[in-house]
Amino acid sequence: MSEIATASAGAVDPRLGPPIIEVRQAVKRFTVNGQPMTVFDGLSCSIEQGSFLSIVGPSGCGKSTLLKLISGLEPATDGEILFNGNRVDGPASGMIYVFQQYTKSIFPWRTVIENVAFGLQSHRKKLSAKEADDLCRHYVKLVGLEGYENFYPYQLSGGMQQRVVIARALICEPEVLLMDEPFSAVDALTRAILQELVLKIWQTIPVTILFVTHDVEEAVFLSNRIISLSKAPARINDDVSIDLAYPRDQIATRGQDHFHALSQRLFSSIFLQEKAGHADPQV
Ligand SMILES: Nc1ncnc2c1ncn2[C@@H]1O[C@H](COP(=O)(O)OP(=O)(O)O)[C@@H](O)[C@H]1O
Ligand SMILES: [Mg+2]
Repeated sequence: MSEIATASAGAVDPRLGPPIIEVRQAVKRFTVNGQPMTVFDGLSCSIEQGSFLSIVGPSGCGKSTLLKLISGLEPATDGEILFNGNRVDGPASGMIYVFQQYTKSIFPWRTVIENVAFGLQSHRKKLSAKEADDLCRHYVKLVGLEGYENFYPYQLSGGMQQRVVIARALICEPEVLLMDEPFSAVDALTRAILQELVLKIWQTIPVTILFVTHDVEEAVFLSNRIISLSKAPARINDDVSIDLAYPRDQIATRGQDHFHALSQRLFSSIFLQEKAGHADPQV
């Protein structure tokens, strides 16, 4: 038997609930320069509540598109997406999308606390001024920015700005947090710290996280499950249960043989596809 379990064959994680998102036979086509382009041609998957699911795959295979279909930011050409059993027909409340380029989504003229407070506009409940302020301070603290409440974005590092964006997304208490390569613009050490932060948040509050990354080691470090997509039209090439114990540790977890085996399995399948797409030796 293989040393690495597939998600369907893996042990049931006690933290996981029933399916919160179901992608059923999703088809997505774009027209590029007058030519039809099929990204998905009948993609299906079911995501359990409480998952930390990463989506990996070669560049351009449709990772971001899948996240946008799930969030309702982009309509499916055919098939359907269900969120808590209801069909997604537009931006769904209860799901928050964190974009890759945080500098474009942070307001430079607002302080940390004012940026975080902006997220309250999507909050389900009507809060008093005191409740709103307490909640802002709670999330600023959760992302490790206590003491920086009155700083402006230009006074913060890239990693700190990304923390502001995460706090602003979390403050409306989403059921699902969608993160598209959220750490690609920060240096390696900051990235490692932010990975630990996101894991701490996932273990502290009841949220399902869907995380897109091109970095398989990042995916293995964070996730309890990884879906690896093939080149377009993308299908699920691999669906891997990441049976490494939580809480995870940047040194100890990454030092395990099983961590390397999982990373190697995913990296080799993605790399071979990426390489096949760059057959021209001049590229
Ligand atoms: N709005 C769009 N219009 C036309 N083509 C698009 C659009 N968004 C994505 N695509 C195409 O769909 C494919 C998948 O894109 P994307 O989901 O961004 O890939 P990934 O995130 O895996 O790198 C790419 O070929 C891309 O050019
Ligand atoms: Mg992308």
